[in-house]
Amino acid sequence: MPVLEIRDLHTQVGDEPILKGVSLTINPGEFHAIMGPNGSGKSTLAYTLMGHPHYEVTAGDVLVDGESILELEPNERAQKGVFLAFQYPHEIPGVGMSDFLRTARASLTGEEVDILEFHDELEGRLKQIHMDPSFATRALNEGFSGGEKKKAEMVQMAILKPRIAILDETDSGLDVDALKAVAEVVNSMRDGKFSSLIITHYKRILNYVRPDFVHIMVDGRIVRSGGPELADQVEELGYEWVRAEA
Ligand SMILES: Nc1ncnc2c1ncn2[C@@H]1O[C@H](COP(=O)(O)OP(=O)(O)OP(=O)(O)O)[C@@H](O)[C@H]1O
Ligand SMILES: [Mg+2]
Repeated sequence: MPVLEIRDLHTQVGDEPILKGVSLTINPGEFHAIMGPNGSGKSTLAYTLMGHPHYEVTAGDVLVDGESILELEPNERAQKGVFLAFQYPHEIPGVGMSDFLRTARASLTGEEVDILEFHDELEGRLKQIHMDPSFATRALNEGFSGGEKKKAEMVQMAILKPRIAILDETDSGLDVDALKAVAEVVNSMRDGKFSSLIITHYKRILNYVRPDFVHIMVDGRIVRSGGPELADQVEELGYEWVRAEA
């Protein structure tokens, strides 16, 4: 059974239709990438999957483990194992990263979190992504640099252990070492069940995190799907050729 099934999804913002029939099936363990020009609807898809109230679903369905999640609140979707790493992560003033993540983990699992074990795990993940341990006690994302915010999203993903992680341009704005560290964290999640939907403009991250499938979104629709070679074609030819074919 697919972990995520998107069926002919139509989304609008205000009166403006943005997604115009997106269908996508992600099985457990699969990594998918979505590429596409600016404004084609990639972040809209990510926000819609997470249940952002600005995005109104007018047709279609989204199923996790075969059950529609469209009526669920964002936190209930998270409980089902859906995680979104934001293109522009929000600052959470006054709430330390460690406290935030410990509370989030407890609310997701419904189990008490062992503080010492948690501390070690968080420190290990910070180290893996080349962040100083002092970030654990800093307010989440407050005053973080652009790249630090992106890396903090990956720490959250690793700690919360979702079943499917949607990464909205996590690779944008990262230096070359940070990109490799992010890839290492994502790859370390691979266990045959963890799945990922990687939204990106560049094939660079896909050299490190190998996708099983690449999809191209243009004007609110997936117009082409294939293997990693599609990312090479995009790099070489841009999007005009798919636009023309579509
Ligand atoms: N609140 C809004 N009001 C009007 N239009 C909106 C609103 N939110 C999004 N849009 C439009 O929806 C379209 C898709 O936006 P989206 O952010 O999903 O694109 P994207 O594919 O993620 O682009 P990028 O690669 O630049 O991140 C854009 O044309 C955008 O202007
Ligand atoms: Mg976007």
